[in-house]
Amino acid sequence: MSAIKEPVVIHKGLDNVYVKESRICFIDGEASKLFYRGYSIEELAGHSTYEETAYLLIYGSLPTAQQLDKFTRSLESYRSLEPAVLELIRSLPSRSDPMDVLRTAVSALGSYDPRPMTDDMNVRIDKSLRILAKLPTIITTFDRLRNQKQPVLPRGLESQAAEFLYMLTGDEPDPGDVHALDVALILHAEHEMNASTFACTVTASTLADMYSIMTSGIGTLRGPLHGGANEAALRTVLEVGTPSKAENYVADALAQKKRIMGFGHRVYKTWDPRYLILKRYAGELAAKKGQTQLFDTAVAIENSARKHLEGTPIFPNVDSYSGIVFHLLGIPTDLFTPIFAMSRIAGWTAHVIEYLETNRLIRPKALYVGPVGLPYIPIDSRSGSAGE
Ligand code: CMC
Repeated sequence: MSAIKEPVVIHKGLDNVYVKESRICFIDGEASKLFYRGYSIEELAGHSTYEETAYLLIYGSLPTAQQLDKFTRSLESYRSLEPAVLELIRSLPSRSDPMDVLRTAVSALGSYDPRPMTDDMNVRIDKSLRILAKLPTIITTFDRLRNQKQPVLPRGLESQAAEFLYMLTGDEPDPGDVHALDVALILHAEHEMNASTFACTVTASTLADMYSIMTSGIGTLRGPLHGGANEAALRTVLEVGTPSKAENYVADALAQKKRIMGFGHRVYKTWDPRYLILKRYAGELAAKKGQTQLFDTAVAIENSARKHLEGTPIFPNVDSYSGIVFHLLGIPTDLFTPIFAMSRIAGWTAHVIEYLETNRLIRPKALYVGPVGLPYIPIDSRSGSAGE
């Protein structure tokens, strides 16, 4: 057995490990800057739409009017669910977590694709767009079924945001609400080599199909340290309830070494630029809907947390106000992470395509620190300790 010769550096959490060169996303975590394909997040949130941003991420440049029209029409044509997938969603327990439903349904879509495996990048992209377009349908279908309501069929509305709100409620969505959701989708569409994007990249590096890749991403996004933080952050605000209780909550939580959800980031060591945009939308929506207490409580939590965490690099992240925006749009809390997936699939696709251009199987190492050469003990002679 050969001994390890060089000193081994373990990059716990793969902090600062680069897995590829990329032209998709640049984050300057010290300067509060985020760019998709060179365009600042402020420019995109101010002028673009989710569909245009998804096109930019996946194809590398902003579309012409004709390209955007074709792209949007393709998404519209992909939105409906296969009857068998609809039946599958019907068969799942109504108490299921919507992220379980999303993961299961996307995985099942692969079974109804006669040729899920392909080497052709354009075909890969097309499969991904089919999944992207169906995510709002899967999420809203499940939500309606669990509430004993008939699913609302897609209506050919032009945007992912409008179609989602329409299929969720069955009502004509308010244009201001559609715009707020659209901006939130732009802000969540991409974020460099985060955990779920890396999971997709690892799966892609084995040359697996797009359904397996996206299922990996959905599973990874779910955890409360990643996509699940938006739900946890909103639950905290609802639990705290009023601005006057924020200081006690934050002080107690930090004294017990609990994390304040919606705070902290591996890359940002200052304000997350997405937080600033979402905070503005949350404030405007709260005023419009007459629910300012919720927003004021979130601001009070933020202020207390910033005071207690002064001198640390822990600042509010995208999730500190995204949940408030979604809640004010009437979206149930457990649909927040599925909405994140519904947007981030654009970034997952872009990274997978980019990685596959010069693919190399991702296969890191683990430094073995256990014993070797142990004698095999027959089962009757074991004393038993592990796993008792
Ligand atoms: N509240 C209180 N303390 C915190 C927080 C927080 N939200 N985040 C980090 N810390 C502390 C942590 O306890 C640790 O302290 P110590 O060194 O005393 O043990 C120190 O900061 C470093 O923590 P870490 O976990 O090593 O840092 P990280 O860079 O791995 O953390 C993070 C990144 C996002 C996992 C973490 O900040 C966190 O758990 N935040 C809360 C969950 C959250 O909001 N996640 C959403 C991230 S943005 C959306 C997305 O990308 O999905």
